[in-house]
Amino acid sequence: QTIHRKDYAAPNYLVDTVEMGFDLEPAATRVATRIAMYRNPAAAGRDIVLFGEELELVALRLNGKTLAKGDYRLAGHVLTIPAAPAKAVLEIETVTHPDRNTSLMGLYVSNGNFFTQCEAEGFRKITFFPDRPDVMAKYTVMLRADKKKYPVLLSNGNLVEQGNLPDGRHYAKWEDPFKKPSYLFALVAGDLVCQEEKYKLKSGREVLLQVWVEEGNLDKTQHAMDSLKNSIAWDVDRFGLELDLDRFMIVAVGDFNMGAMENKGLNIFNTKYVLANPRIATDVDFANIEAVVGHEYFHNWTGNRVTCRDWFQLSLKEGLTVFRDQEFSADMIGTDSGRAVKRIDDVRVLRQAQFPEDAGPMAHPVRPDSYVEINNFYTVTIYEKGAEVVRMYQTLLGRKGFRKGMDLYFKRHDGQAVTCDDFRAAMADANKRDLTQFERWYSQSGTPQVDASARYDAKGKILELTLEQTCPATPGQKKKQPFHIPVAVGLLDAKGRDMPLKLEGESGADATGTRVLELTKARQTFRFTGVNEAPVPSILRGFSAPVVLKVDYSDAELAFLMAHDSDPFNRWEAGQRLAMRRLLNLTVAVQAARQSGHVVAVDTVLNNIEHDGALADALRATLNDASLDPAFRELALTLPSETMIAEQMEVIDPHAIHIARQFLRRSLARALRDDLLAAYRANRVPGAYSPDAASAGRRALKNVALSYLAELDDAEALSLAQCQDEEANNMTDRLAALAALLNSTASGKSEALQGFYDEFESEALVIDKWFTLQATARDADVNTVRSLAGHPAFTLKNPNRARSLIFSFCNGNPSAFHALDGNGYSFWAEQVIALNGSNPQVAARLARSLDRWRKYTPALQEKMRLALQQVASSPNLSRDVSEVVTKALAN
Ligand code: ARG
Ligand code: ZN
Repeated sequence: QTIHRKDYAAPNYLVDTVEMGFDLEPAATRVATRIAMYRNPAAAGRDIVLFGEELELVALRLNGKTLAKGDYRLAGHVLTIPAAPAKAVLEIETVTHPDRNTSLMGLYVSNGNFFTQCEAEGFRKITFFPDRPDVMAKYTVMLRADKKKYPVLLSNGNLVEQGNLPDGRHYAKWEDPFKKPSYLFALVAGDLVCQEEKYKLKSGREVLLQVWVEEGNLDKTQHAMDSLKNSIAWDVDRFGLELDLDRFMIVAVGDFNMGAMENKGLNIFNTKYVLANPRIATDVDFANIEAVVGHEYFHNWTGNRVTCRDWFQLSLKEGLTVFRDQEFSADMIGTDSGRAVKRIDDVRVLRQAQFPEDAGPMAHPVRPDSYVEINNFYTVTIYEKGAEVVRMYQTLLGRKGFRKGMDLYFKRHDGQAVTCDDFRAAMADANKRDLTQFERWYSQSGTPQVDASARYDAKGKILELTLEQTCPATPGQKKKQPFHIPVAVGLLDAKGRDMPLKLEGESGADATGTRVLELTKARQTFRFTGVNEAPVPSILRGFSAPVVLKVDYSDAELAFLMAHDSDPFNRWEAGQRLAMRRLLNLTVAVQAARQSGHVVAVDTVLNNIEHDGALADALRATLNDASLDPAFRELALTLPSETMIAEQMEVIDPHAIHIARQFLRRSLARALRDDLLAAYRANRVPGAYSPDAASAGRRALKNVALSYLAELDDAEALSLAQCQDEEANNMTDRLAALAALLNSTASGKSEALQGFYDEFESEALVIDKWFTLQATARDADVNTVRSLAGHPAFTLKNPNRARSLIFSFCNGNPSAFHALDGNGYSFWAEQVIALNGSNPQVAARLARSLDRWRKYTPALQEKMRLALQQVASSPNLSRDVSEVVTKALAN
């Protein structure tokens, strides 16, 4: 059953205070709740409406009087008390079964400890409640449990009391001074230890910071603590937002559906985004931890102090908070080139995951109009495209203007549950700008395409830039209205320097560099005057809008931009365009050779195509340009992924793509062998490991060089990998070496894998990497994965482990997953069905692997359709999985 945004109605009752008492037992936890409610003057109804799932209702009292069966209705998940008084104190007793809760929503047990996850609708698995974000209240929480087994008892806010109880039990009482929606409630109880420190805020106030983990993991908490302190300082500097609590806690848990959760004062994290030291974590892990710690911390203002009116507004907090964490990470690197690298990384994620979503059956606007299961809408569109939408405000209004908008947003809405329209209004009003048309970024789904063409008039010294926008149809949205698109452009002269930019009719010279054009119509022409020579335009600098930009550049122009553009994003982009062009040509050639039966001749055919070497020359120049940030050179050297190539094709042929990309990698490795070897040697990072961006960038460049060299299978390359595997003092280099060996013809692969396993057997996060490495290895197939799924260390019950093997294979090894016999799809269906029974949320994520089935070759399409149908028709399908496969089959 579908929920629609247009049906929003304010709640009949609001809540002042919530008092809760928990008697924590794994098999049966008793929860007593007292809710002080009052009739909402802004609503007409007189019924109290509560939600509850998988609960035993023990007692229900209204204003002191026990309600009999006839005094309320319990239908499905909704409990209604009709015609209630204007002031109502509800007392509810419920029992839940945390140890049987495999969905990891509500109250559950992980490795013997208690945790909660309430966003979006998990609180209703703890007690009956008006579990919707526009009901905000103050919470007091009493936790009681066995003292030996659960020495640590945590909840939101401040610890106000603790002590002992009879029978070896103890209690802790917590009070959250801020009102909050129920999705931000949290408790943790168990045998945990913490790294803690007193931290002085800029204002002088002292706060207590804690990172809680299981015993034995205190050697992995320093980076999270440092990231937290950096986040606190950054939010004051950049947005004037200070921590509002006396205590801020982070807790790591091994079983977690998502990355982390911003519960007020008690953030709960997947261990993957907390635990790190050089032995177990890669550079990417360190960077992700910083980003996620920042993200959850920043939610304290964007999400918690100001929250969402309803779940359709989810991007109000998520898009904004992702934007904030992206800016935080960029500022932590600190250099311009570092900022650019971070920007490129973020755009890569958007294109790799969000563009396909926007073009598939689950496409939805940043502010959706409807959903069946809200958990399915924690998507890359809500998060990453949402962040792009927020970034466009900053591009249009400038940093200062954006800050003004943020200040007004908090001035108006602190303590409220609001909408995306409220955010846009704050941005518009603070800057006296009309942002009416900008609303379409929230309401229209699909990725807009901008076609750019330039015409130079040498006589008039005029450059005419014509921009035309279109947007493909998406489910439920045939026709689109033009978007308000900021297009940052520059013009390069023959020497590659930025030219002055002056639009016709403007007086005074304009600054040289970049300027932001505002495309608001379907088609618009911008005339630059005083353009003294024919320029090469650099368009959509910094990726100023989440669109697909089509420009007819020649190879020579792309190589020129790659060598000279002052905008690092477009410099990288030019190289990617050049590479993509080659990859698509090669893919077509593979298909043609295959069709003519000349399978053996594929290499010859491909060699003929690649004869010009223009790409290799351009990449060599970039690789050897010591003035460029190593991290940037690594990105430039990385070819578009198989998934990205697939998205460029009318009909996806995963095997041809794979052969083509592998071929190009090998031929580049051959052409650049000496340069790669030199880069490898020059970018070793001596001394003790540090995850800082500069060192990480050098390791990244060194390791991409290694991965190319391993394509050559020559003795020198393989011995580099072998030495690195033996000598590495950090996980980044270890994994890179192992991956290079696995994807080569080196002998001793299984010994290397076994050695790695034995060394890290007790580190769950490293064993996850071990599974992923094998699931994504070049020679892996569905049988490899099936046998790994039978490994004693594998379990579907732990989301990280399931993702490490199953998701990595289905989403990260396209040519193996899309095997012609369809065995990959049968495996996928089995796993989705198995997960559906234990954890619908994780199952639904996996179900999305076949989203793009209609784009594949007819033979594969048919097999995918059958697999989707098999899932769709299996019994006891969760709402989560059902929504995904139903939409896939329908659209
Ligand atoms: N709000 C969390 C974050 O962005 C994610 C919570 C997702 N929970 C869920 N059940 N889907 O950090
Ligand atoms: Zn978030």
